[in-house]
Amino acid sequence: MISTRHCRTLTSRILRVSHRTYHELSFLQTGDPSEVLQHYSSENQTHQEEPDQKEGDFVRVHMLAAPWNPADMNVIQGKYPSPVKNPPAQPPSWQGPGWRVAGSEGWGRVMESSTNCNIDPGTLVTLGQSGMGTFRSSLWLPTQAVIPVDRGEELEDTLGSAMASSIFQLGGTALRMLQDFESLGGHSGVVVQNAGNSAVGWMVSQLAATQNVKVVSLVRRGSKTEDEYNEMVDALTQQSTNTTRVIAQDDLLNDKGALKALQAELGTQAPRLAINATGGDSATLLLKLLAPGGTMVTYGGLSMQPVTVATPMLIFKDVKVRGYWHSRWMLQSFPQQRKKMVDELAGLVLDKGVQCPPIEIFSLDRFQDAFQFETEQSAQAVRRKVVFDCQEEAQ
Ligand SMILES: NC(=O)c1ccc[n+]([C@@H]2O[C@H](COP(=O)([O-])OP(=O)(O)OC[C@H]3O[C@@H](n4cnc5c(N)ncnc54)[C@H](OP(=O)(O)O)[C@@H]3O)[C@@H](O)[C@H]2O)c1
Repeated sequence: MISTRHCRTLTSRILRVSHRTYHELSFLQTGDPSEVLQHYSSENQTHQEEPDQKEGDFVRVHMLAAPWNPADMNVIQGKYPSPVKNPPAQPPSWQGPGWRVAGSEGWGRVMESSTNCNIDPGTLVTLGQSGMGTFRSSLWLPTQAVIPVDRGEELEDTLGSAMASSIFQLGGTALRMLQDFESLGGHSGVVVQNAGNSAVGWMVSQLAATQNVKVVSLVRRGSKTEDEYNEMVDALTQQSTNTTRVIAQDDLLNDKGALKALQAELGTQAPRLAINATGGDSATLLLKLLAPGGTMVTYGGLSMQPVTVATPMLIFKDVKVRGYWHSRWMLQSFPQQRKKMVDELAGLVLDKGVQCPPIEIFSLDRFQDAFQFETEQSAQAVRRKVVFDCQEEAQ
């Protein structure tokens, strides 16, 4: 056990409250999140499981906020694989054996750290290892599971906890896909993506704009009215200061002439990189818009349909078909690479005006309202990312 004499502790001075209850959002069995998740709250913190010192250096993180990402839903449904064979153990749930706390990403402040730990109490951190169970008010973590953010206080002051919590996974996924697969600047400088109104799609547009890369963003009209659709197009175009061009994929799928016209218009500016969140017909469209020798990176399967690559695409166009998984990158990269990435993202937000996707904040005990809000989102012109405020009420 870590005893207080082996720890450096943050005084309550910079905390919002001096005493708080513990609470978490956890599940015993996998299934539909609205059926299996439970909000658990306790005023008694004394029975908190503490890590054994022999296992290395630890920090206790007071969670400030944690976003609800599609991967969190898939984990609760039991459909999300682990990026490694033997994933690191999750800090225990207070509900008891067999319970797992939901949530992978998060933003928090280190409250205590073991004596030899190089992270000082007070430091703002983002969670760098998925599966730790971030939907709770506090947890002990091995130091390698957190990434201190150099300009954390500036980020917290500028964005607030909830928005700060949402940039690292969304922005990290977008940044890696933009930087690691194709060299964009010297060539055509155009990227094409689908699900352009998703949160990752938003970040792709924002980050591409800082690199002078243009984005062709495909979106669905779906059940949106013409006014709602136009409002979405305006919002997505303006957020990128006009470097993103928004096109309805329904129009390209239903009208071969419209697709040919777009291909002709892009001409020698055909994108070297396609970023695919959906699979199915929409991914086929991306391949048709890709430049010869270009790369399509798949990071999501929202349509639940496979990615189909026609033989001529491979023989005559020599396209490369790749995948990206941020959880795997976070586990396999070096600590310095992870730290460089989060500090780069913080810098892009603070210095280059990168805007985070809009958010909607819910307290952990209002998780059913959050899910209801999520299901009603497709009718909205501009999507909002659900973020949980993990802080418990003041006592
Ligand atoms: N590989 C990774 O490391 C990684 C990292 C982050 C996210 N992801 C994945 O990336 C995807 C997007 O994540 P996000 O957080 O940005 O999502 P999000 O903000 O929840 O946005 C998803 C939106 O995409 C749109 N969409 C377009 N085509 C769709 C289709 N065929 N089926 C369903 N929705 C479609 C929908 O909006 P409309 O209804 O308005 O069309 C949907 O609401 C998810 O699949 C997620 O799991 C992967």
